[in-house]
Amino acid sequence: MTGIDYAEKIPNNVELTSNRTLQRALEHWQPNYLKWWADMGPDDSKSYDVYLRTAVSVDPKGWAHYDYVRMPDYRWGIFLAPAEAGRQVNFGAHRGEAAWQDVPGEYRSTLRRIIVTQGDTEPASVEQQRHLGLTCPSLYDLRNIFQVNVEEGRHLWAMVYLLHAHFGKDGREEGEALLERRSGDADNPRILTAFNEKTPDWLSFFMFTFITDRDGKYQLAALAESAFDPLSRTCRFMLTEEAHHLFVGESGVARIIERTCELMAQHKTGDPARLRNLGVIDLPTLQRYLNFHFSVTSDLYGSEVSSNAASFYTNGLKGRFQETTLQDDHRLESAEYPVMEVTGDRILTRQVNALTALNERLRDDWIHDLENAIGRWNRIPEKTGIAFRFKLPHKGFHRRIGAFAGHHVSPEGKVLSETGWKHQEAQWLPTAEDRAFVQSLMGRVTEPGQYAHWIAAPRIGINKQPVDFEYVRFG
Ligand SMILES: [Fe+2]
Ligand SMILES: [Fe+2]
Repeated sequence: MTGIDYAEKIPNNVELTSNRTLQRALEHWQPNYLKWWADMGPDDSKSYDVYLRTAVSVDPKGWAHYDYVRMPDYRWGIFLAPAEAGRQVNFGAHRGEAAWQDVPGEYRSTLRRIIVTQGDTEPASVEQQRHLGLTCPSLYDLRNIFQVNVEEGRHLWAMVYLLHAHFGKDGREEGEALLERRSGDADNPRILTAFNEKTPDWLSFFMFTFITDRDGKYQLAALAESAFDPLSRTCRFMLTEEAHHLFVGESGVARIIERTCELMAQHKTGDPARLRNLGVIDLPTLQRYLNFHFSVTSDLYGSEVSSNAASFYTNGLKGRFQETTLQDDHRLESAEYPVMEVTGDRILTRQVNALTALNERLRDDWIHDLENAIGRWNRIPEKTGIAFRFKLPHKGFHRRIGAFAGHHVSPEGKVLSETGWKHQEAQWLPTAEDRAFVQSLMGRVTEPGQYAHWIAAPRIGINKQPVDFEYVRFG
């Protein structure tokens, strides 16, 4: 196992000490990062000792080390998954060539843009979530959000390492700009729209980690196939951390569903107003939040038909989800893929060249994954004898980018007039009233073993600790 020296200023497994120029550049960036964390990281968290997982090696057994850490002292490090001996380019025009250890000049600006766009999402989500610690439903949940936050911070480190190591002065400037943009800022916003939305309450946070971090998983998985080997290895290690973020989201919403179903059964009611009076979130409101986060995140994949996506693939920069396990020619020049489009008031499916449909394909992989996870949520009402089932809306629902932009599509996939949409929108997307109700539930629960009324306790704690473990100690 490759151990990581925590005495070093920047823990790493990339032999940073052997490259003085790079080491100095990162040591120069580090205080700016820490200043960003102090300004934009979790509110009021400086003196907390948090039971966190820190990577101490990239070995499957060693990367999850748990202990109390004072958050600003968290050791953000640079870790790449081990190199694969003889790794080749597995798709596109360069298929069969040796994977690249350096950036080819002709792809330099495109690769830089890809890395910056990925990197920008990492600090953005920390900024979006920074006030939530003040309304945590339990110490367990507080610890989990902080774990997600420090790892998103580390993901920023991972991308900045690539920029510094492989893109010279331009890369260093991009590294600074990543600390200057701000989620939701009118003058200098984060790059992607979904990362400028607010995450105002814990239901939004759980939906975000369930849905938007899952987009992160699929983007990272596609970049893990890249011919540019340092990017591939960086993303492979990030994926191991991402799994926990998805768990936090899926189990967080599941615990809300569980609590609501419990009260529905106990009081023999499905009436949203009554349930709200009982202090839990009714299932239709949860569905509306799901609809919102699903549609906003769908847009992150970009247009259904995209020549950029085609050239990223052909040039070997970004592959498909689990590229090497797919059985085809890995060039896709003559393959087809179905995409939807709106014609009049109908949604039609047509076949297009598979290369140009790679955004759509990645979105479909993500949707498939989400459907399975929602199936697991649905076992909760099923077990309680409640008829309600969660369902993903149609792909075209509430979209701003691609073939559905400018159209009004219902969750069932019906094309509507603007009036028709306006008439029913409040049933499909969270209303101001829904948001105000959810906000009204947000208190702060910090007694070990206590959980807010609207959410069930987890079955087991973190790292097999009990659910009443003192996950955060307040200094
Ligand atoms: Fe991340
Ligand atoms: Fe994440």
